[in-house]
Parts: sequence; C-alpha cells; structure tokens
Amino acid sequence: MAKPRVFLSRELPPAVMAALRERCQLTANPESRVLAKAELIAATTGMDGLLCLLTDTIDAEVLDIQPRLKVVSNYAVGFNNVDIVAATERDIPVTNTPGVLTETTADFAFALLMAVARRVVEGDRYARAGKYKEWAPLLMIGADIHEKTLGLVGAGRIGLAMARRARGFSMRVLYADVHPVPTDQATELGLERVSLEELLAQADFVSIHAPYMPETHHLIGAPQFAQMKDTAFLINSARGPLVDEAALVEALRTGRIAGAGLDVYEHEPALAPGLAELDNVVLAPHAASASLETRTRMGILAVDNLMAVLEGKRATHTVNPEVYPRLGL
Ligand code: DGY
Repeated sequence: MAKPRVFLSRELPPAVMAALRERCQLTANPESRVLAKAELIAATTGMDGLLCLLTDTIDAEVLDIQPRLKVVSNYAVGFNNVDIVAATERDIPVTNTPGVLTETTADFAFALLMAVARRVVEGDRYARAGKYKEWAPLLMIGADIHEKTLGLVGAGRIGLAMARRARGFSMRVLYADVHPVPTDQATELGLERVSLEELLAQADFVSIHAPYMPETHHLIGAPQFAQMKDTAFLINSARGPLVDEAALVEALRTGRIAGAGLDVYEHEPALAPGLAELDNVVLAPHAASASLETRTRMGILAVDNLMAVLEGKRATHTVNPEVYPRLGL
C-alpha cells in the first residue's frame, strides 16, 4: 500500500526525520524559516497529513484548500496556532504533544526564576564588559529563592513539575486554577489553592502555566501588577498573550514589580517597545522545551499521532476527539 503523503513545515531533529522518511512519503520545507501562509497552503495541497509548528497559523483558509487533508499534527503541547473550531467543522483531527516536554519546560521556567532573582544574566553582562573590578557587599544584590512563596497560575502538568522543583527549595507553593489538584497530589506537594487575587498578593514569584485561549487573553495586566508585591517577579514560559506586555514593561520600568523572566512574548518574535532595554528582565527565545532529548520526544510523538490517524486509528493526543465518531474511528 502506498505510504501517505505528508508535509512537514520545518526540519525536526534527525531521529524524527528518519521516522518520518520511513513511515510516509515526506515533503519537508527545505528552508530554515517559517513559511508564509501562501507557501504553506501551496505545500500542503494534495497532502494526507500536515506536521506543523507553533509558528504556523492553521486557520479555515489553510484548511479549506486541502480536500485530502486527514490530520493536523502540531509539534507542541500548546495549540493556539490552530483554529480548532474550523478543523472540527471540517472533521480534521488536530493532535498535540503533551507530557513529553513537562520536565524540560519546568527546568527552564525554574532557571528563568533563578536567573532573574539572582541577576545571573545581568552579572554575566557586567563581568564580560570588564566592569567587575572588586568584590563589594552590595554588588549584584538579588533576592532569595529558598523559603519564598511561589504562585502558580495554572497547575497542570508543567505547573506541578514547577511545584516539585520548588519543594527542593523549601518554598511555599500556592496555585490558582479552575480545576483543583487532586487531594493526594496537593498534599504530597504541599499545595494551597487560592484565588488569583490572593496568589498575586502573596507570591514572591508568580509563574504562569495556563493555556492561552480567548478567555485567558491578558490574564495578567496592569490591574494584576497592581496587586503584586513590589518585590515580586513574574515568570512566563506559557504563551505571550497571557500577559499584557506593554503593562509589564511599565510595571518593570516603574518598579511596580521587581523583575520578570520571559520565554514567550505577546507578539512573538517581536518584543514590546522598551522591554529589551530593561535590566530587571531575563529574555529567552521560546526555548523552554529546547533540549535535544525533548525536542526529539516531541517529534516522535507528533509522528505517532499523525500516523495513527493516517492508518485509520485514533491518535493518543487529540485536541478535538469529537471528530472521531464522524470519521468512523
Ligand atoms: C509548546 O509545546 O507548546 C511549547 O511552547 C514549545 O515546546
């Protein structure tokens, strides 16, 4: 039987490329850049499956031109780049890659927390610039992490992995989430469920681990910064538009909060005006899951999801499983 035709929108780690070449007729974007929408549409036309990235916008316009397309496999746990309603209306399963990047992402979120609190990047810049002339009692004074209070905005897989790391630092951990953490897990991790307002008022570190959707747009903005301690730090490794970035720049610039560690941006890859000029912020290029092991695991899972549907089965991780009965799966 002929192998299914698949378009991959950007090169993935070697083991993933090998798996794709073995299991399907692969056409891959040969260029090391995000495709423009027209290019993506042209390349996907006539394909059975699409393996895409969080940088690809998959909307009704893209889906409408694809009469053969049977599955969209997103190489990310977040799927706000895909119009799920449009895909569901067209009976196209959309899959994602939860679970395999949890620990790596939490490692990085905690690294951002530590870097901004202890001024690691600022200190590096200072030393490289030849400014370190002598040890001084107040040089690069930062904030302690151990025994402080961590507030998790969202306590899903990655939020809980962050809580496990915080335990190692003897931190108190609060969380705000519409879904309570199961009691045994909450007890084991010493989690306290509070309202977002209480969390903002009490936390020394506010770390966002919520999904982005219309309801969570600007979840953290000027009113929320006003509720935070002026010694507190914001960490965002989830999605940029969860935070009103212009309000964040203002809060950082005026000392309303102490600092921020960011892996994601509201208008990614652009940074809000003024953000890059601030010393009290650590900026990363959406790299929280970027270890070779994890990016490979994400790829293998994305391939398994894709191939399951193309082989007439349900994928393990489907965002819109309600399409399966209509497909006879
Ligand atoms: C995701 O998977 O959603 C991350 O943002 C990238 O790994």
